Amino acid sequence: MLVILIEPIADLAVLAGAKSLASLEKTGLVQGRVYRAESLSHNNHSLCFHTGVAIFQDALYMIELYLVGIGMGNPSHVTAAAIQALQSADLILIPNKGATKADLVDLRSEICEKLLSPVPPISYFDFPSRDPAEPDYLKRVNDWHDSIAGLWQDTIHATHSSGGKIALMIWGDPSLYDSSLRIAERLKLKNTTVKTHVIPGITAVQLLTAAHRIPLNELGASVTISTGRQLQANGWPEGCDTLVVMLDGQTAFQTLDPEQFHIWWGAYLGMKEEILISGTLSACADTIKKQRSQARKNHGWIMDTYLLRKK
Ligand SMILES: C[S@@+](CC[C@H](N)C(=O)[O-])C[C@H]1O[C@@H](n2cnc3c(N)ncnc32)[C@H](O)[C@@H]1O
Repeated sequence: MLVILIEPIADLAVLAGAKSLASLEKTGLVQGRVYRAESLSHNNHSLCFHTGVAIFQDALYMIELYLVGIGMGNPSHVTAAAIQALQSADLILIPNKGATKADLVDLRSEICEKLLSPVPPISYFDFPSRDPAEPDYLKRVNDWHDSIAGLWQDTIHATHSSGGKIALMIWGDPSLYDSSLRIAERLKLKNTTVKTHVIPGITAVQLLTAAHRIPLNELGASVTISTGRQLQANGWPEGCDTLVVMLDGQTAFQTLDPEQFHIWWGAYLGMKEEILISGTLSACADTIKKQRSQARKNHGWIMDTYLLRKK
């Protein structure tokens, strides 16, 4: 336990507008978790400490974890806020995703070389694979997140055991089909509080609609973003006007009636290899399948996103 005397602590709480111990912790005005404070009371505005004594759990250090959206690898899509966060990092963590996805590691390193000066220290870590023997999809993914969190923890502990700013370069935006926020929640570092910051990035969805020069939604209508797996298993979502499909290794659009839909498809969006195809699904489905498999052979990997609308 660490006992901290703050005079007068009531000012600290009022200043922070804190209405509970938990909200006082979130202000970042105190390091570590508030464990107990003497003589607490609430008024309408804030939490008051009458004695001026608060006891904090012994979290002595602070790791500031920056999840930095970098768009799709094109340096001109990296925002000024992202550059600032990366530049101020004490360490940038970059995952090695195996030989077939080496391009994606290189892109991250290239972004650092092009946009940062000097480039902060970078640590590469081997990205674990999901266990194919685990039949339950959610368990397989949860176990995988645990092992990634373990790797982040080991690296941070080995290099910054007394705190610092750690940045991860997240493909697109951290909020969209990305697990870094869920992994960050699992981090447990001894004597250390982890404070996560999110820097937004341009998503594959934005690059797709920009490249095809189309609005994402129709007038006053809704948009559903889903996965190839969902489309394959459950078909066209009920009441859906516009469907954006990501994470589709199986060209799940083939399960739909091609006469009923229009498709806007894009692969390697924002990159020099970008491929765009659009038209009625009946006219485009075969071309997309062929181009997709050829491009995958050429590059060793492919990432594509498409938008479907009922005709
Ligand atoms: C793990 S999700 C990451 C999404 C990302 N966080 C975002 O904001 O777009 C990977 C999926 O994003 C899409 N994607 C990522 N990069 C892409 C690219 N350059 N071109 C087309 N789609 C891309 C694909 O649907 C891919 O399966």
